[in-house]
Amino acid sequence: MDGIIERIPRQLFIDGKWRDAAEGSTFGVEDPGAERGLCDVADAQGADAEAAVEAAVAAQESWARTPPRERGEILRRAWQLMTERTDELATLMTLEMGKSLTESRAEVGYAAEFFRWFSEEAVRIDGRYSVNPAGGGRTLVTRQPVGPCLLVTPWNFPLAMGTRKIGPAVAAGCTMIVKPPQLTPLSMLNLAALLAEAGLPDGVLNVVPSTSATRIVDPVLGDPRVRKLSFTGSTEVGRKLVEQCAPNLQRMSMELGGNAPFVVFADADVDAAVRGAVTAKMRNNGESCVAANRFHVAEPVAEEFTRRLTEEMAALRIGHGTENGVSVGPLISSDQRDKVSELVDDARDRGAEVTTGGEPLEGKGFFYRPTVLSGVPEQARILREEVFGPVAPITTFRDEDEAVALANDTEFGLVGYVFTRDLDRAVRVGERLQTGMVGLNTGLVSNPAAPFGGVKASGFGREGGYEGIDEYLDTKYLALAVSA
Ligand code: SIN
Repeated sequence: MDGIIERIPRQLFIDGKWRDAAEGSTFGVEDPGAERGLCDVADAQGADAEAAVEAAVAAQESWARTPPRERGEILRRAWQLMTERTDELATLMTLEMGKSLTESRAEVGYAAEFFRWFSEEAVRIDGRYSVNPAGGGRTLVTRQPVGPCLLVTPWNFPLAMGTRKIGPAVAAGCTMIVKPPQLTPLSMLNLAALLAEAGLPDGVLNVVPSTSATRIVDPVLGDPRVRKLSFTGSTEVGRKLVEQCAPNLQRMSMELGGNAPFVVFADADVDAAVRGAVTAKMRNNGESCVAANRFHVAEPVAEEFTRRLTEEMAALRIGHGTENGVSVGPLISSDQRDKVSELVDDARDRGAEVTTGGEPLEGKGFFYRPTVLSGVPEQARILREEVFGPVAPITTFRDEDEAVALANDTEFGLVGYVFTRDLDRAVRVGERLQTGMVGLNTGLVSNPAAPFGGVKASGFGREGGYEGIDEYLDTKYLALAVSA
């Protein structure tokens, strides 16, 4: 894809126009697989954030009145354009984020499906009409867009975490200010251009990349006309944002950190469990909040599971994401690679055995070898902290109660994975896990038609599914006096 970087807009997108940041500030975007600069992008300042709010507020009323079918058709056209341009979108994503081209293509498909799903939901926003119990009046219930929203998206899925928020906001009739991640802003800027081409009116979507999240978030959430925040990111930052929404009582959707348990019972199909483990661990190189973070395996199958997972992980090819046959790209940054190293070293120092990997790769790029750790002691930090990298720590358990206790022993509650051939046990354990999602004999729960989200310190609110659009709608009740 020659010249792809040159074709991508690098300015701010406000009120349907591309413009420089105040004071002409810019920042550099880097390829994490080669440690080389890709391009410079406009670095939004507080005044730009305020301009984005003005544009979103000005567009809100007419956008809310735009017929649902028209809003849906824009999303449908955007889905079509994304599908046609999969290779270009995937190459750009690989360059700025590092994941392999196969993974990037999969993400483009996943991201586009949120637009298709919500194009279908736009025309199904319903209400109700009922006769009051005592007669003499009627109750009308309708649902209206919450209003201008701030959407803060993460670097790990540069497109899908955007479309998962933009799709329902467009369908519901909300305008938006999007703060894309500093590390991967290009995919979102490109998406803004694509949505404009699909017919999204000026001011509905405003994109303000910045090196300072607070420079954007403070003025936007400080403005009471902005009525909602949707955030995907760390629990630590999520907690601060919840406080920031308090003065103006803005609605919130919080998709925060995870520490997903992957539980393999003795009666599991070990082939399926190993396949599921590779998916749950290695999708996106482990840089996902739904990545399996710790493996709890029943004693009778622990040795076989560990041996086979080790073989699979050792066979994965590492390299720059654009190379053919590569399935494991670099981590996003040197900080991320150092954090993974630190957690592996901590587990090893406490007595865990490294059965494959266990070290970064020499040379350019932030690579870390796919790693399996067995016999991980319970004090190891890796069992408590989100690793966000290609490391599978394994511990064992004796019975179902112990497995459930281990799985729930965390402040997080996003997803859990359970492998068993016993249907009763699958349902029982699935219901006992303190998580918003459970994968039963599968290592993949992400699905635009399903409600994605967590409990406990993993946040609240749901994205995708029938529930996804509710986050962008307020319920209004009209009391109607009827004399008859
Ligand atoms: C995430 O890592 O934030 C979400 C991953 C997904 O949607 O599968």
